[in-house]
Amino acid sequence: MSMAKLTLNGEEYEFPVVVGTENETGIDFSTLRARTGAIALDPGYGNTGSCLSTITFIDGEKGILRYRGYPIEEIAESASFEEVCYLLIYGHLPTDDELAGFVRELRLHTMIREEMKDFFKDFPMTAHPMMVLSAMLASLSAYYPSGSDDEEVDLNIIRLLAKAETIAAFSYKKSVGQPWVYPRNDLSYTENFLRMMFAVPAEPYVVSPVQARALNLLLMLHADHEQNCSTSTVRMVGSSQANLFAAIAAGVYALWGPLHGGANQKVIEMLRMIRADGGDYGKYVAMAKDKDSPFRLMGFGHRVYKNFDPRARILKKAADEVLGDLGVEDPLLEIAKNLERVALEDEFFVERKLYPNVDFYSGILYRAMGIPSNMFTVMFALGRLPGWISQWKEMREDPKAKIARPRQIYLGERTRPFAPRAARQAEPAPELTSA
Ligand code: ACO
Repeated sequence: MSMAKLTLNGEEYEFPVVVGTENETGIDFSTLRARTGAIALDPGYGNTGSCLSTITFIDGEKGILRYRGYPIEEIAESASFEEVCYLLIYGHLPTDDELAGFVRELRLHTMIREEMKDFFKDFPMTAHPMMVLSAMLASLSAYYPSGSDDEEVDLNIIRLLAKAETIAAFSYKKSVGQPWVYPRNDLSYTENFLRMMFAVPAEPYVVSPVQARALNLLLMLHADHEQNCSTSTVRMVGSSQANLFAAIAAGVYALWGPLHGGANQKVIEMLRMIRADGGDYGKYVAMAKDKDSPFRLMGFGHRVYKNFDPRARILKKAADEVLGDLGVEDPLLEIAKNLERVALEDEFFVERKLYPNVDFYSGILYRAMGIPSNMFTVMFALGRLPGWISQWKEMREDPKAKIARPRQIYLGERTRPFAPRAARQAEPAPELTSA
């Protein structure tokens, strides 16, 4: 085993170097504080590995993403979302029997308890569907308490995946004031979701195969992305042994923010704004570069990718195909492509290695499918569920897993005597002096 040396206050310490299967290198500082009294300071955790994992590999410099070793491009070509769920959660591609059993279980658990529908009623119509999704997922723990045996955990995993799509579709129906459409056991995950979103009771509805394929692709591309903000949140909440539903509900909230999964909604808002402003993308690229402006190109940049996000590449191609197949012409797609071209030729973006991320083109696809922008991040959450679940499960099964508890460097006041309130009030107020 190779070692890394650290010199601190004249003393030398050695720490083991851990090398992953793709040669990524880490220094194991888990004994740092016990041995040296110092901690590793890394705000934003850009240099900190929080776990050892066998689920997802990313090489941000080369633009590589693999689930359990399978390249995302090959998964995107021919897998189904259900297969990807199984792969991520159970670690191997399912046999035909395993997949059939898994799909059957998913279809049997799509209903939510009838009384849960009342919870939706009390949210205002303006409630953001991400808020509703998280609250409803947390509420599942009231009905399905988490025991510790594996069978119960497996059943809760199925319940979570299956009921999440019903909850997501119901949250949309609530926001547009339409009656709920119940799930059907004979449809695939994506077909069922589209039907619950867009069908109206007593009216015939046929799921468009183009839409179902596009949704399958979108969900698979979002399925996992190793230790990002929301996944780390799921692991952090789960590390206290809070139940699966609570950990995932917390992950939904972490995903909501515009710097993370909420960016897909913001991208469309930005493209609309550019269009309304005459389509002058150069002006917005200039604003994004201006340090005095808070404006950023949404859907651009990534903590890990310093090259094309491979998911954005796949989605850009899919956007052309799906819009073509659906016969949709979206002027925002043209603006997005032009914005990308202008930004990628600009020194500011080149120097900082800022490329389009997964959120840049996903919204264009959702729009073409008739999904409104306030549902985009919900769609991301549905896709990310198997990733969150597999990461939570990996942590739960790790005998060495500990409660997550970072430290800090304190910069506040040093010890000072506490004066009781009465004594503080008795003190004369400091005199104001005029200049
Ligand atoms: N537009 C303009 N400038 C940018 C952008 C952007 N989208 N992203 C980064 N930069 C600049 C920063 O101003 C900074 O410049 P500086 O070095 O001169 O100060 C430099 O690039 C590095 O940016 P950081 O914010 O330090 O990078 P970090 O890794 O912390 O942030 C993040 C990554 C949050 C994704 C950032 O790129 C961003 O805000 N992008 C827009 C929001 C977005 O698309 N989020 C979705 C990410 S993908 C996902 O979560 C699914």
